[in-house]
Amino acid sequence: MDKKITIAIDGFSGCGKSTLAKDLARRLEYTYIDSGAMYRAVTYYVLKKGIDVNDSRLVEKALREINLKFAAKVSEGIFLNEQLLIGEIRSSRVNAHVSTVAAIETVRTHLVAQQQKIARSEGVIMDGRDIGTVVFPKAQLKLFITATLEERVRRRVKENISKSIPVSTHEIKKNLQHRDHIDTTRKISPLEQAVDAVLIDNTNLTRIEQLEMVLALVRCRTERKIEED
Ligand code: CDP
Repeated sequence: MDKKITIAIDGFSGCGKSTLAKDLARRLEYTYIDSGAMYRAVTYYVLKKGIDVNDSRLVEKALREINLKFAAKVSEGIFLNEQLLIGEIRSSRVNAHVSTVAAIETVRTHLVAQQQKIARSEGVIMDGRDIGTVVFPKAQLKLFITATLEERVRRRVKENISKSIPVSTHEIKKNLQHRDHIDTTRKISPLEQAVDAVLIDNTNLTRIEQLEMVLALVRCRTERKIEED
């Protein structure tokens, strides 16, 4: 498949968007961009500087001191002013504050502009909360991923155990609920399914089943693009 499309993946916290995006990127040789890592890196910086995340004016000022760069085509890491961040952006502290930072209008305008710039070429998969609605409204394939809260908690607990991150099940559940609430109710580009997105509830799908389903969709959308071009 030579011709490449743009794939936008949105959905709730912990529903496996990044796992799917990485699997797709490897199979299709696409570039994967984790937009959440950018919001997380800004939050990490702001917290490190001791800035109150509720003070949008100070957060906005800090944005000018931040330069973000992705480490590789399909990677876990992001460079924040030359410092490679991997596990640091997934700490409970960042989890607790990232949605507050991501609700600030200037933060969104700034990061969305960067996301659109990085992904100017085709063959890009980006996951987040506003990718199909705001970042790539013309993406050929938009997915909206969901799963039950119980299943999302179960997966995040498993992920944390594998990464030796010490967090209780209760804390994970509370954080997912907290972020879902802020993400869906914020004024600026709240998390919502784009009208032309395909909805996938992956509660009862294995990683492979979901990947094969989406690969079939990618094939169809790529053929459609070839016909239209
Ligand atoms: O991996 P997980 O689903 O837990 O979250 P993430 O994708 O790393 O995103 C972390 C947080 O960043 C989300 O809860 C949102 O508040 C924010 N975010 C956003 O507002 N817009 C995006 N495009 C991506 C993330």
